[in-house]
Amino acid sequence: MSELADPRFTKILHNHQEIEGAAKRIAARIDQDYAGKTPVMVVVLKGAVMWAGDLFRNITNDIEMDFIDIASYHGGISSSNKITLRTDLTTDVKDRDVIIVEDIVDTGLSLRFLEDLLKSRGARSVQTATMLNKKAGHKIDVSAKYVGFEIDNEFVAGYGLDYQEIWRNLPFIGVVNPEIYS
Ligand code: PRP
Repeated sequence: MSELADPRFTKILHNHQEIEGAAKRIAARIDQDYAGKTPVMVVVLKGAVMWAGDLFRNITNDIEMDFIDIASYHGGISSSNKITLRTDLTTDVKDRDVIIVEDIVDTGLSLRFLEDLLKSRGARSVQTATMLNKKAGHKIDVSAKYVGFEIDNEFVAGYGLDYQEIWRNLPFIGVVNPEIYS
């Protein structure tokens, strides 16, 4: 089925090629900004996995990778406002430069939770590379240094982002048809 004829979505926001383009652009900036350093890239499970793959393939400097699993949506269509740490890092981030790799910053609560956690553990610096930033969704004042795309306040899925845990594997980001969840 063609992406555009997919009844699960009202609109395709970004296809695979566009997302890879954003990953290349951000990877080049990270290479430049972290020249001579070895940052720890903290991938926020599960949504950021596909974006992280694109980003990492395009970074040429040395990096380390680690993974953390937090939950805020709990499978629903909006943030529950309560962040849960499900699986922790294995890296000691004390005195390390850390880059949080997110699929989306929506309310900003997950990002704030992670920033606070990493800083409390003594990270030297903490920045964020997010595929999507939903500024109109922010409930607190957070910002990501590296942003793939700004998006409107719509419920999106695909490319790592789920609708009730499915559709993460889709090679595009689409606006979910409200008929699906209303
Ligand atoms: C999503 C997304 C971000 C977070 C953003 O994760 O991956 O981590 O929510 O939302 P916020 O800015 O409102 O906090 P989710 O909790 O759905 O877990 P998942 O990645 O496993 O789907």
